[in-house]
Amino acid sequence: MKRTKIVDIFNPELIGSDVCVKGWVRTKRGNKHVQFVALNDGSTIKNIQIVFDMSRFTDEQLKPITTGASICVTGKLVESMGKGQTAEIQADTLEIYGTADTETYPLQKKGHTLEFLREKAHLRMRTNTFGAVFRVRSVLAYAIHNFFNQKGFFYLHTPLITESDCEGAGAMFQVTTLNLNELPKAEDNTVDYTQDFFGKPTALTVSGQLEGELGATALGQIYTFGPTFRAENSNTPRHLAEFWMIEPEMAFYDITDNMDLAEEFIKYCIQYALDHAADDIKFLNDMYDDKLIERLNNVIKQDFVRLPYTEGVDILLKSGKKFEYPVYWGADLQSEHERYLVEEHFKRPVILTDYPKEIKAFYMKQNEDGKTVRAMDVLFPQIGEIIGGSEREENYDKLLTRIEELNIPMKDMWWYLDTRRFGTVPHSGFGLGFERLILFVTGMTNIRDVIPFPRTPNNAEF
Ligand code: 4AD
Ligand code: MG
Repeated sequence: MKRTKIVDIFNPELIGSDVCVKGWVRTKRGNKHVQFVALNDGSTIKNIQIVFDMSRFTDEQLKPITTGASICVTGKLVESMGKGQTAEIQADTLEIYGTADTETYPLQKKGHTLEFLREKAHLRMRTNTFGAVFRVRSVLAYAIHNFFNQKGFFYLHTPLITESDCEGAGAMFQVTTLNLNELPKAEDNTVDYTQDFFGKPTALTVSGQLEGELGATALGQIYTFGPTFRAENSNTPRHLAEFWMIEPEMAFYDITDNMDLAEEFIKYCIQYALDHAADDIKFLNDMYDDKLIERLNNVIKQDFVRLPYTEGVDILLKSGKKFEYPVYWGADLQSEHERYLVEEHFKRPVILTDYPKEIKAFYMKQNEDGKTVRAMDVLFPQIGEIIGGSEREENYDKLLTRIEELNIPMKDMWWYLDTRRFGTVPHSGFGLGFERLILFVTGMTNIRDVIPFPRTPNNAEF
């Protein structure tokens, strides 16, 4: 008999018919007359209840059915009298695929902490919580492609191995095939990279933006969606060494167009998740954070505040609040400052613009004041910075001067500068941290819990 996924089984038209389901046992309970098994196959947060009439099965047959075991059951789908479920299966046949030893299966009991489950990342997707989180993650990825596809953007694949440090933070993972125990040396005793795989030092990319700009100044509107890597040693609930980023880049967009797109984009994604992952979000709302759905709806309803950095700093200085990190004009804002503006002062998302040029990357468009650049960071409740972006400096001379001021090696940048030498245009873009969006939509509070296999300092086992 053909298998029906559990997500499809609660269809009233199937009541009375014979069905086949396959999945992993969540619980078994009952008495010597009847046994109830809750089965989950990952297709939905919901379990299907299977009823074993013990006049038709032996104790021996049901013994291997323990939490975590995998089984196949056929039987008749009937309306359920049980609370909270619409249908159940009266079992006819049972096949055990794999047992799960009650002594050693780590998820035998319910109610493990998220910290404990982080240590069991290879199995944690089998829990209700992580099943929900990773279904939401998948739904959001689909929403992103949908959004840009509907808007006529092209999906551009940018390289993961690169020679350039887009953000200029110097936090890159080096890529090499040289034998680290026997490095070839050049005459001046430095490493001879001509003998390395690419003939030059290379690293994993921190951002696809620079190549994205090449795409935008050819195809008009592109977006990237891929993994990025940062070797910053920041052990926070919001940083990963490997995270996914979505980077749209648009020719002929100024910073206002850029902000409009960012706001529309993020609202679309949240609404899409509410519409297409309703059961999972409701579960997370009920289990972890009963303000979650309210918060998601609020963000969709409200216009984001748009505020220059200088005014934001004024508000922080006048707040009378004691922050861990000092606030002054020129300071790189910390998440405590961002969250004060969003959660306490404005009570809605804020797009902060026109940051001091010293704390932003070389490619941002310089303002007439000579001090600030046309940057835009989108700040969110619970999260802080969720998007970073800007209008780009399209003037060749100004860009070159900035590159020289920052001592960025020019030999690495000639191809990027060509966009400004040949048919340069005003253009803008931004980067959304995918895991930060998932944090917001799921209400999880640690970024390690929204990526299947987190990479953080000292953690890359599985
Ligand atoms: O602000 P960032 O560094 O901007 C860029 O990389 C630009 N090239 C984007 C662009 O304009 N095309 O990073 C963008 C976003 C941040 O706002 C944050 O959400 C996320 O990426 N992010 C991280 N997420 C998880 N772990 C980290 N270590 C992150 N660093 C940045
Ligand atoms: Mg940033």
